[in-house]
Amino acid sequence: MKTFGYFDDKNREYVITDPATPFPWINYLGNEDFFGLISNTAGGYDFYKDAKFRRITRYRYNGVPMDAGGRYFYINDGKAVWSPGWKPCKTPLDSYECRHGMNYTRITGSKNGIEASVLFFVPLKTWAEVQKLTLRNTADEAKKLKLFSFTEWCLWNAATDMENFQRNWSTGEVEIEKATAPDASPAGLTIYHKTEYKERRNHYAYYALTNAEAQGYDTDRESFIGLYNGFEAPQCVVEGKPRNSVAHGWSPIASHYVEVELQPGESKDFIFLLGYEENEREKKFSLTPGEKGVVTSLGELDHTIINKEKAHEVIKRFSTVEAVDAAFGELCRMWDGLLSKFTVTSGDERLDRMVNIWNQYQCMITFCFSRSASFFESGVGRGMGFRDSNQDLVGFVHQIPSRARQRIIDIASTQFPDGGCYHQYQPLTKRGNNDIGGGFNDDPCWLIFGTVAYIKETGDFSILDEMVPFDNEPGTEVTLFEHLRISFDHVVNNLGPHALPLIGRADWNDCLNLNCFSWDPNESFQTTENNSEGSKAESLMIAGLFVLTGKQYVELCRQLAASVCCDSVATYRTEADRAQACIDAMVEAVKKHGWDGDWYLRAYDFYGNKIGSKECEEGKIFIESQGFCTMAGIGQEDGMVDKALDSCKRYLDCEHGMVLNNPAFTRYYVEMGEISSYPAGYKENAGIFCHNNPWVIIGETVARRGNDAWEHYTKICPAWIKDQQLHKVEPYVYCQMVAGKDAARPGEGKNSWLTGTAAWNWLTITQYILGIRPTFDGLEIDPCVPETLREYTVRRVLRDAEFEITVKNPDGRQSGVRKVILDGKVVEQTTLTATPGKHIVEVIM
Ligand code: GLC
Ligand code: GLC
Repeated sequence: MKTFGYFDDKNREYVITDPATPFPWINYLGNEDFFGLISNTAGGYDFYKDAKFRRITRYRYNGVPMDAGGRYFYINDGKAVWSPGWKPCKTPLDSYECRHGMNYTRITGSKNGIEASVLFFVPLKTWAEVQKLTLRNTADEAKKLKLFSFTEWCLWNAATDMENFQRNWSTGEVEIEKATAPDASPAGLTIYHKTEYKERRNHYAYYALTNAEAQGYDTDRESFIGLYNGFEAPQCVVEGKPRNSVAHGWSPIASHYVEVELQPGESKDFIFLLGYEENEREKKFSLTPGEKGVVTSLGELDHTIINKEKAHEVIKRFSTVEAVDAAFGELCRMWDGLLSKFTVTSGDERLDRMVNIWNQYQCMITFCFSRSASFFESGVGRGMGFRDSNQDLVGFVHQIPSRARQRIIDIASTQFPDGGCYHQYQPLTKRGNNDIGGGFNDDPCWLIFGTVAYIKETGDFSILDEMVPFDNEPGTEVTLFEHLRISFDHVVNNLGPHALPLIGRADWNDCLNLNCFSWDPNESFQTTENNSEGSKAESLMIAGLFVLTGKQYVELCRQLAASVCCDSVATYRTEADRAQACIDAMVEAVKKHGWDGDWYLRAYDFYGNKIGSKECEEGKIFIESQGFCTMAGIGQEDGMVDKALDSCKRYLDCEHGMVLNNPAFTRYYVEMGEISSYPAGYKENAGIFCHNNPWVIIGETVARRGNDAWEHYTKICPAWIKDQQLHKVEPYVYCQMVAGKDAARPGEGKNSWLTGTAAWNWLTITQYILGIRPTFDGLEIDPCVPETLREYTVRRVLRDAEFEITVKNPDGRQSGVRKVILDGKVVEQTTLTATPGKHIVEVIM
């Protein structure tokens, strides 16, 4: 079977060896404020914090061919014009390699005796992308080359950039700054993007060559590329001549022109910096207009000239190879640190590489980007999700707990006083997104889920005392604990005729729109009117979620009762008892009205008809309620859990994983909404929605069926992908959806990278299969593994403790701990207290 690359675990890289991958295989640069997406052929874009409001470079989604535009280098060697990343020139290369690593990408191409290698990364705490280009002459004779850099500016707002041309084509402005002397500081040549700077924007971007002289430049796209050419053959590059163009409106770009001479064996490094800065309003403009070497779009010097102090500082900082290499070293060391909190050695390199490298990396990426920017999410539609981000932080909290803490506060601040909340918020403003609204009745439960995970990881109960507003409204602050209470009560206060949770606009499944009844194709299912008046639509998924997170809430209250002083003890105890009674009632309601004989029902519709029942014509069984109700152990004593899990295997499972529902819907059901809008086998209509496979897998561990859990796990795990051509998207990260058994091409992946799948699989493999689980009291050891896994060692840092845990399974069991030896002594308990220092643990199953 054809492969396009391989894992290099030692370097924590995925190495792509053929540029013509079945889809662009991308990576992410940056992990705090300044971000980039980069494909294996150097396509993609950068933005600052918010992919919609602060898009720095332009990218065209839905172009032909796709993935055109990015950070391109062109080499004209007299015989050929080529790019190290193959695209955009597509000149056949003598060699090509792309290494996607932890927040960096290195692309190397060679042609006609020249090797060009570019390292792309965003240094820590820096608002800029470094591109270190190394040109090496591998031939026997001297070489003369013409090098062109290229990037295209986005006019900041990525949405209007794509639509408001009557304005956009008149607003573009740039500045060009050349070094005035060879030792000038900054050296090289910098192109500044300052569209709208003279009015309300206090930010600008720049593209600098910091360590060498440029012999020319271009800033106007049409001058550089030519109106009738494409990125593959810019006229300047083909002719080997820059135009030194200055953009006035139209499409501003940035391109450096450099003449390079290399002796045999010689190599030279060029440092390019693509950055972003903000100035205070009073300090926006240059204090020294008249500075030599400054040309403005207006052709003269005036008060619109940017005060460039901040950019100069960064340019200076990254003007030597030593400085760049040191910054790269720091980034790599940060990742060493992050990835050392949890490592496994299992004897199976696929498992080890997922746990130790790629699953954790993807969790960091989903934490940073939520569902905003990928090659499937355009960065303009969706910000951070209330539900999504709470799930994401569970996969990330062990890495940098302080950032998870801040995220929880940000999310909770968008909640309403009744416990409902905005479904999404914009990362730049941290304000709830009015266009998307709220009313997704699963949302509040996720706040409990995220917060409890944070406390179990850190032991930091103080977060519960933080004062957090409603809807970001100053003066409305209550404690975070109070937010959790009203989250819990939001379900309790919104029950339907069967005492099951009302679904609202939708639950986790955004496409199960039971109250929307849309016949108008111009309406969005997600935002159209929600006819919940008189609706009987109830969700078994929320019922399971409520029982699961409700138990966490009760446990939290009991924990608080045990740790606080006199008066409050009773308060927390009473609250725990009250909450437990609500959970018990929910469990009864599920048993009575939510069980279909062999599996849990999915929902009741507006009229009170069953969804996900054997009585239904299509969509007889759904995965979400099986996942949540089995995780919550509802009816386990009556055999419901095992039966539901068996039904998942029987009806939902296939070679590539479990589908969301079965049989797929083949026609449109207005009373169900978007779910039945998708063709059979895709997305929420019987796609393998990878996000919810782990729920069933955790359910399998609740049922203590280690072999089954493992089988489901490996079916969707990227490291086990066999057919890269069929899978299509990146083989190193999870995707949201793989086409299901009813689809035209089962096994074809889509929507890679930004999916709750990452966090949920992290939870599944580390906490439920390997069974190393943080609790309020420490680390619980509870493996549920395939009988073939005979031994593994986990190194886990929890708070100030570091555990090295070797689990031995001599008899090939699937679960159960017979003996725990902690620091040489046999102990009775399976939960280890996080006592500071290093601990050696041996566990016998
Ligand atoms: C997408 C959304 C997520 C939703 C899921 C199912 O992954 O990001 O919020 O739960 O689809 O509809
Ligand atoms: C669509 C998708 C779903 C996603 C939602 C977000 O409905 O099918 O997966 O969660 O859009 O708005």
